[in-house]
Amino acid sequence: MSTPTRNKVIYDTDPGVDDAMALYYALAHPAIDLVGITTTFGNVTVEQAATNALYLTALAGRNIPVTRGVATPWVKSPEAPPAHIHGADGLGNLGARRKVDAVLDPRSSAQFIVDMARAHPGEITLVAVGPLGNLSLALQMEPQLPNLVREVIVMGGTVMEPGNVSPVAEANIWNDPHAADRVFTAGWKITMVGLDVTHRVVVLLSLFRQIADRHQHPATDALHHAVDFYARFYSGLYQHIAATPGCFAHDLLAFLFLTHPALFEIETKAVRVATEGFAQGQTIMNRRDFIDYPHPGWGKGQPRTQVCLKVDAQACVRVFEETLMGDWLRPLTND
Ligand code: BDR
Ligand code: CA
Repeated sequence: MSTPTRNKVIYDTDPGVDDAMALYYALAHPAIDLVGITTTFGNVTVEQAATNALYLTALAGRNIPVTRGVATPWVKSPEAPPAHIHGADGLGNLGARRKVDAVLDPRSSAQFIVDMARAHPGEITLVAVGPLGNLSLALQMEPQLPNLVREVIVMGGTVMEPGNVSPVAEANIWNDPHAADRVFTAGWKITMVGLDVTHRVVVLLSLFRQIADRHQHPATDALHHAVDFYARFYSGLYQHIAATPGCFAHDLLAFLFLTHPALFEIETKAVRVATEGFAQGQTIMNRRDFIDYPHPGWGKGQPRTQVCLKVDAQACVRVFEETLMGDWLRPLTND
C-alpha cells in the first residue's frame, strides 16, 4: 500500500475539548505530519492551553514541539475563559493528572510559525482553531508569511448560521476580531470552516466510549472524560443533542477539511470581520462580488477566502471513527 503524501501542519490551538478531539485525529491520521503545536488563550488561559497541549501529546506517546503564544486579544479587553463549556482546566476537569515531563519550546508561538515557514517554504499548513492572535503577530513579524506557508485553515466564523457568542459572532473570531480581520485579508490561501458546517456535525458521547474501550489507553480515557463534560453543555442547549448525548466537534472539522476536502461545499469570496459595535466578531462574506463596492475594504481586489457552507456530516463522523479506531497510540511517554 502506498503511503499518502504527508502535510506538514502547525496546529494553532486553545485546548479545549474539541481542540483535543482534533489533536488526536491529527495524530491518528497518516496524511498529517504534525510538526508543532502553537497555543493561544481562548477556551483557557494560554498557560493552561500550553499545559494541556503538552499533556495530551505526552499521553498519546508523542513528543511534538509546543509553544506558548498570545495571552490576550490584539485590541479588545480579554474575557474570562468559558469554564462552563470546557471545564476550568479546559479538559472537562480531569482531576489528578499523570506526571509527564514534556517541556515547552522556548519560542513564542508567532516566532515558531515564522521560523518553520522560513525553514520549509511552501510546505507548512496552519490549522488554526482558536482566536487568531498568533497568526496575526506572525504576519507582523514576517510580512512574506503569506508566500511562505502553503495554506491556512481556520475554524471560526459563520455566514448563514447564527453565532454562538452573539447573534452573529462565533467564539474564536469574537475573542480577537482585529486579529481575525488581519488574517482574512493577508492574501494567503485560506479556508474558513465555521459554524455553517460545524453545527451540522454532532459526534455522540457513545463513540468516545467505544474509542476508549477499544484502546484502553490513558489518552482516550482522558478524551472520553473531557467529552462527557463538554456534551453536558450541548445537551443543556439543544434538544436534538439532549436526546442522544453528544456535542459539536468544531475544531475537528478543520482537519477533516484538510484530509477530506471533497466532503465540503465551498464558496470563494472576500471575508471581513466587524471589529466594533453590535456586530463585533461577525464574519461578513461578500456574496455579490461581481459588484465593485466603492468602500474601503470591499473593492474587487480584496483577498478571498474559501468559505465552507455545506458538509457531508455522516461521512465526517465515519472518517473520524475509522481514524481514531486505528492503531495510532503509543505507550505514554514517561509512564
Ligand atoms: C470554537 O470556540 C471554541 O470554544 C472551540 O474550541 C472552537 O474552536 C467554536 O466556536
Ligand atoms: Ca478551539
